[in-house]
Amino acid sequence: MTDRLKGMAGIRISGWGVALPEKVVTNEDLSKTLDTSNEWILERSGIAERRIGGTTSGLAVEAGKLALESAGLEPHDIDLLILATTTPDDQVPATSSKVQHELALTCGAMDVNAACSGFVYSLVAGSGFLHAGCNRILVIGSETLSRFTDWQDRSTAILFGDGAGAVVLESSSDGGELLGWDLSSSGELRDLLYCSIGGKIHMAGSEVFRKAVIAMANSGKASIANAGIAPEEISLVIPHQANIRIIETSLKRLGIPLEKAVWVGDKYANTSAASIPIALAHALDNGQVKENDVILLVGFGAGMTSASAVIKWGEIND
Ligand code: ACO
Repeated sequence: MTDRLKGMAGIRISGWGVALPEKVVTNEDLSKTLDTSNEWILERSGIAERRIGGTTSGLAVEAGKLALESAGLEPHDIDLLILATTTPDDQVPATSSKVQHELALTCGAMDVNAACSGFVYSLVAGSGFLHAGCNRILVIGSETLSRFTDWQDRSTAILFGDGAGAVVLESSSDGGELLGWDLSSSGELRDLLYCSIGGKIHMAGSEVFRKAVIAMANSGKASIANAGIAPEEISLVIPHQANIRIIETSLKRLGIPLEKAVWVGDKYANTSAASIPIALAHALDNGQVKENDVILLVGFGAGMTSASAVIKWGEIND
């Protein structure tokens, strides 16, 4: 990757929120209708259960509201809404228009579709908009993959879940910084994972696995290089929550121990663009993020896209 990508000083994540459907579907539940077992799914993916239900806009509104509350902001304080989703409510208009209206935001709104990499794409785009003059941006990842899952196909039905995660991204002088980032796309691999309009998800699982490991490692390396730091300086990794084995193998390639990674995929499975903000919120709520920590967000998805960002966390106000 090129060394011309620059980070951005003076940004912080000032609020966050998560929305998950109430309905829990366990591996045992799936094994009643599919030729599979809890043991197989756990061993191959690390997933034990997932949440199913809701709409992409509904989950986004719920997560967005919580993020605004936790940042202590009113809807009119937000200068832009970016909604990362690959499962929009409708073809037209963008789902963000519904979310903008229901949250009573008075700003512009747009969807970003970069599949599971969408949240990191949106975060990097949001940093650019802060540079261009916005003060506060609401970035949401929200997905209802269950609507596009073939529940008779054991090779895909075990992997996905629904949910949303949101953050408020602000200009700030508290020491927070986007140190480095990388956005990539390998369009020639788009047939490995796709869903035609009106259809269901098709995936070449083991090929996606192999490419995902390479994509996560390469993107992570590029961001770390752009940040001008060594892998040992990463305090915490928030990876896309697709499969614990993908995370383990890609982190090995990055020279980062698995213990530094946040994994909530056991409870929520792969929620695509929502998985990184859900895992980040989990880490924040559990006190896993400390002042001056350097955090790597890294994901991959259909496209095949990959994206990563190295963020230095600023002051923490209790
Ligand atoms: N239960 C039992 N057996 C199964 C299941 C299942 N649910 N699914 C597949 N199998 C069988 C296969 O049929 C195959 O049987 P065979 O050997 O008789 O042919 C065997 O298990 C091995 O199948 P593989 O596909 O080689 O299994 P693998 O170890 O690769 O694990 C998995 C499958 C979990 C899907 C893995 O390949 C994976 O995680 N891939 C990446 C998927 C991913 O992350 N996708 C999301 C991308 S992000 C986005 O944009 C949405």
